[in-house]
This record gives sequence, C-alpha cells and structure tokens, in this order.
Amino acid sequence: MSSAKTTASANTEFPNRVFSGVQPSGAITLGNYLGAIRNFVRLQDEMECIYCVVDLHAITVWQDPAELANQTREITAAYLASGIDPKRSIIFNQSMVSAHAELGWLFSCVARMGWMNRMTQFKDKAGKNREKVALGLFAYPALMAADILAYKATHVPVGDDQKQHLELTRDIAAKFNYDFCGEDQPGYFPITEPIIQGSATRVMSLRDGSKKMSKSDPSDMSRINLTDDADAIALKIRKAKTDPEVLPGGEALSEDGQGLSDTLRSERPEAANLLSIYAAMSDQSLAQVIEAKQGHSFADFKKDLTEVVVERFSPISAEMQRLMDDKAEVDAVLRDGAERAAAIAEPILRGAYDRVGLLKP
Ligand code: AMP
Ligand code: TRP
Repeated sequence: MSSAKTTASANTEFPNRVFSGVQPSGAITLGNYLGAIRNFVRLQDEMECIYCVVDLHAITVWQDPAELANQTREITAAYLASGIDPKRSIIFNQSMVSAHAELGWLFSCVARMGWMNRMTQFKDKAGKNREKVALGLFAYPALMAADILAYKATHVPVGDDQKQHLELTRDIAAKFNYDFCGEDQPGYFPITEPIIQGSATRVMSLRDGSKKMSKSDPSDMSRINLTDDADAIALKIRKAKTDPEVLPGGEALSEDGQGLSDTLRSERPEAANLLSIYAAMSDQSLAQVIEAKQGHSFADFKKDLTEVVVERFSPISAEMQRLMDDKAEVDAVLRDGAERAAAIAEPILRGAYDRVGLLKP
C-alpha cells in the first residue's frame, strides 16, 4: 500500500530515538508488561527514549472522567515502578503536548480511507457497532502515527497486536515525504522500525487462549494486573484454563527451536500461553523451559508460574502503591516530561506545517 520513494535505509539519516505509549484505559496487565514495558526499560540503555501515557487514545472509547486522571497516574506509576528512569527518559501524558493532536490532523489528511478501512483493531473494537462508535476510534491510527513522528522516532517497542498500526505509520511517513519533499532525501519523517521482542509478545487471556489478554476484558480473572497481590495472582493462575494433558516436550518447539510450534499454538493455546509467560518471566528460553517442565502436570507448573510472577511483580506493585499515594511526585514527573517532550515536538510540527504550506505570517 505504500507509495514509498523513501526507503527504510533513509533511517540512517535520523538519530535513533524510541517512542512508545500505553493507554490509560484500565488496569495495566501482564500483557502490557511483557509486550511493551519491559522492553521500554531495557531500551533506555541503548537510545534516547520517550514514553507517553496516551490519554487522547483512551477516550476513543468511553472513559469515566472521574477515573481517567487516576488511570493516567497509574500507568505513569507503572512506568516508574518497572524501572523507567524519568531523568534519562521522557515520561508524559499525550494531552499535555498539543503537537500530537495537531500532527494527527495533518495525518488524517495524508492517510487514505482505504488504508484505514483495513485496520483490524478497529474492526475488532467496533464489531457490530460500527455506526455508533466514535469517529476518533477510526482515526486512532493516524493519531498514533503523529505520536511517533512528532518526535521523528526511529524505533517503537510494542506488542504483536500493534504491528499493523506501525505499518500504517510507515506508509503515512512515506506518503508525507513523497507528497511534500519530492525527490529530496531522506524526506522529512523517518520510516519507523517496530521492536517486537521477547517470548511473550502476544499474551493471551487466562480464560481463553484464543483471545488477547486485555485491560478492557470484562472478566478480571482473564488477566493478571501489575497491582494484583500474591493471593490474587495465585488464584488467577490456579483458575487459568488448561487442558487435560501434561506439559509437552521438544516436539512443542518450532523448527528453529526458538519459539513454539504452530501446532501447539493452535491445538493447545492455553499451554502455549502459560509456557510463554513462564519463559518470559523467568528470563529463560522456551527450549530451556520445555526441557525442564516436560511431563509435569499443570497443577505443579502453575505453582512454579505463580512463584515467578509474584517474585517479579511484588516489588513493582509495592512501588506503584507508594507512588499512587504520592500524586504530587507522579504529577511532577508528567509536568517535567511534557515540557521536555514539547520542546522536541514543537519545531518538528512547525517544520511539517511549513512543508504543507500552512501560512505563519
Ligand atoms: P494498550 O493496553 O492497548 O495501550 O497496549 C499498550 C502496549 O502493550 C502495546 O505495545 C501493546 O501491544 C502491548 N500489549 C497489550 N496487550 C498485550 C498482550 N496481551 N500481549 C502483549 N502485548 C500487549
Ligand atoms: N495503540 C497503542 C496500543 O493500544 C498505544 C499507542 C498509542 C502507541 N500511540 C502509540 C504505541 C505510539 C506506540 C507508539 O497499544
């Protein structure tokens, strides 16, 4: 779908910069942690990082105004408690930096209806309700492209479900470059690279191995939240859906030995999910986990899994609690982050306005 004149290699012209975001649309989950936040922390050692709490995205579906501000603080607290350092990285909430909404509008005029119509997340979220959902839910990926490109970010760590949105971001950047920079290389915006890393880039629901673990699932038993205490984690894992067999052996690995086989994923999705979570949370490869656990019963394995999840999450949830009791500290981080973010985004937005020919008399 891309009309790209600009290629990925043009990226070498742009300094490395990471951008990513999480929506404050509910309790933050194990899926967010393994698919996204854990990589956010790691990337701080490699590149300049900007991490956003995307509140403008959250309101594409109804959010209780009385809750939204606290949810925004909670995601911020999760970032901090997981190890994002607000001195090294920029942490802020999206609505504080107006360049996102402004560039989002420009990109609504760049992205084509045909591209947007292909977005599977919109189809899933809108479902049968297509005529009644907000216009913003449809435009959501154009705002996401604006988030990233307002900083000319070159790398975006996300879970597997965001792959399509990042392809759209690349198409928007390429079309903007083609329309407004002509033959000038490398164009105005970089062609962003997704970073989808780890053994659990798509964590599934504990109640249904065919559904993504999600903040917005009506059942709290379907997910583990970063704020769950040890008892809640133990209960949710104990009740997690499994199958009647024991844990699989080497045949469950994919041909290259790095991942799980498609057969295991399709025939025993719950086993595949719990094994992936265990590998990711215990920092082992799937091959190591399968070798150690083959033939074990789910009852035993679930105890081991509970242990690794509790061990990793208890310090995070304790620190989140401390931060949630100290709103002033969290708000100060967001204010400082917004100021630093705006200082980067404003001139980039002005440059884009200039290319488009918007007059600044
Ligand atoms: P969201 O909760 O939709 O704002 O997602 C924030 C980040 O977490 C994105 O990078 C998602 O791809 C990632 N994420 C959300 N749910 C999952 C999941 N179940 N497994 C892996 N990554 C996820
Ligand atoms: N759409 C992402 C999600 O739901 C959240 C998001 C918004 C994002 N803007 C972003 C992620 C920019 C990465 C970069 O998971």
